[in-house]
Amino acid sequence: MAEAKHLKRETYCGELRQEHAGSAVTVYGWVNNMRELGGLTFIDLRDREGLLQVVVNESFPEPALLKRIGRETVLAVSGRVVKRAKPNPDLASGQVELLAERIEVLAASEVPPFLPESRGNVSEELRFKHRYLDLRSAALQRNFRLRSKVSLLARNFLDREGFLDIETPMLSNATPEGARDYLVPSRIYKGKFFALPQSPQQFKQLLMVSGFERYYQIVRCFRDEDLRADRQPEFTQIDVEMSFAEPDEMFAIMERLMRELFAARGFDVAAPFRRMPYAEAMARYGSDKPDLRIPFTIEDYTAEAAAWDSELIRTALANGAKVKGLAIPDGGSFSRKQLDEINETAKKLGGKGVIWMRRGDEGFKSSLKVSPAAIAALFAARNIDPGALLLLVADAEPQALAAAGRLREHLGRRFQDKDRLEFLWVTDFPLFFYNEEEKRLDSNHHPFTSPRPEDTALLESEPLAVKAIAYDLVLNGVELGGGSKRIHDIALQRRVFQLLNLPDKEIEERFGFFLRALAFGAPPHLGIALGFDRLMMLLLGEDSIREIIAFPKTTSSLCLLTGSPSSVSQRQLDDLGIAIKK
Ligand code: AMO
Repeated sequence: MAEAKHLKRETYCGELRQEHAGSAVTVYGWVNNMRELGGLTFIDLRDREGLLQVVVNESFPEPALLKRIGRETVLAVSGRVVKRAKPNPDLASGQVELLAERIEVLAASEVPPFLPESRGNVSEELRFKHRYLDLRSAALQRNFRLRSKVSLLARNFLDREGFLDIETPMLSNATPEGARDYLVPSRIYKGKFFALPQSPQQFKQLLMVSGFERYYQIVRCFRDEDLRADRQPEFTQIDVEMSFAEPDEMFAIMERLMRELFAARGFDVAAPFRRMPYAEAMARYGSDKPDLRIPFTIEDYTAEAAAWDSELIRTALANGAKVKGLAIPDGGSFSRKQLDEINETAKKLGGKGVIWMRRGDEGFKSSLKVSPAAIAALFAARNIDPGALLLLVADAEPQALAAAGRLREHLGRRFQDKDRLEFLWVTDFPLFFYNEEEKRLDSNHHPFTSPRPEDTALLESEPLAVKAIAYDLVLNGVELGGGSKRIHDIALQRRVFQLLNLPDKEIEERFGFFLRALAFGAPPHLGIALGFDRLMMLLLGEDSIREIIAFPKTTSSLCLLTGSPSSVSQRQLDDLGIAIKK
């Protein structure tokens, strides 16, 4: 194959418009489609800016060349831009076409296993195996273009606000963020390991001790945890830390950042965002990341339930259960089949099932033996729309709330309009939770989070009642980011480590360097990290972060493209002093 003499991109296929008619151009791209019609050959040539129709007519000097062209062949086409007799309104370049005078095949392509534009009909397995083909699709090209733009907007914004971009190590000791670490064995110090960062948490705090005052980094983080639609083992954070500030200032900065980033897709984000204490989020939404687009909330019906003549409820209440309910607007007309399905779903979502109540054609009815009069009184007293369906769960309070919360998300799906953005700050998280498995206190966020000053006395007497100066940024039911004010007092930091049941020796080994830094004038500081992949997912209305990560892993943590993780040679293992257990 003769090589093109001199390659120079001067114009993109997708950029040609009516005003270019008459000009001579050379374009480069991939054959998206090719068809013959009445002695003419039409080639849809695709580059990153879009498609252009190329026409090859009878006067083309090298007709034999057309035989070498198929889907995804790479071409250089020179010719004249002409106005189309019949414009194609679906194509940005649809007013014009290119009359080919010279075509050069720059690279052949085997018959592709799928066409980029048909990615929607292809298994994820096949797409990930040939991700480079998948990435040729207009949808993914758009996603990565916007990702690049938004990343630049974020950098410019943070730079304007006085934040410095400072890189932190990838090879270091573990930073606790609640997941497992990815370890990297040291060759020089056999038996010792680096850990890839779960976040730059400790380093960014050290940068505050160093006096940089405002830091940011758009940084890769690594967490070995169960994957979901919004979780990958490596992901990107917009990581921020600042000194001499209170959460209100951080909220305002992040709100301005969100306004700016979401404007990139035409959203006008309203600020300030709503704020809600964690306790309220749990009580009304059964979730610490409530989706505020769903119009119904969880209400407590325990007091009313106590008066019902039902054995099931009596037993549950005697065991300390609470009755939590959701009034689903216009759910009153659901069929019996739908009600059965809801009950099954509730069980699948990890609850005990639901009780329903509603006004049917023959008056109020329930799946529970309760008198119609009692249900009617309940609907009236609690102002429940007569057309609504009341769903109730009875269980120990945390379980009842969690079950009602999951059911709310499930039944609220029809309200989850992707073009509506409901931002929310969830605040006042408990500092600790009780880790049943390990029978000890554990940090809700990470151990560097500051308790509220008014709660420090409770650290000794009632640690589970201590609230943290911690906040999550939630958007449409997704945790977009999290942060906190940090402990900058060495004694308090040491005490928190001890409350987490870490022996002094381990505290010294794992966090000694960090505690020492706190001894040398650590300023009060706070910070936040936003999940950049999640942000892009929501900005683009995608359902998975795999759509905005160029080379993602599957939900079972495999890279189908490269086949990683993979075995290594015995020699490499020997170098590292590692033996694999059978
Ligand atoms: P946190 O652990 O809440 O906080 O992480 C911040 C944000 O990162 C995103 N995120 C993920 N995105 C994709 N895949 C994952 N596996 C994943 N894990 C987390 C989420 C999350 O809200 N050091 C603290 C921040 C701080 O305190 O400043 C931290 O990392 O959107």
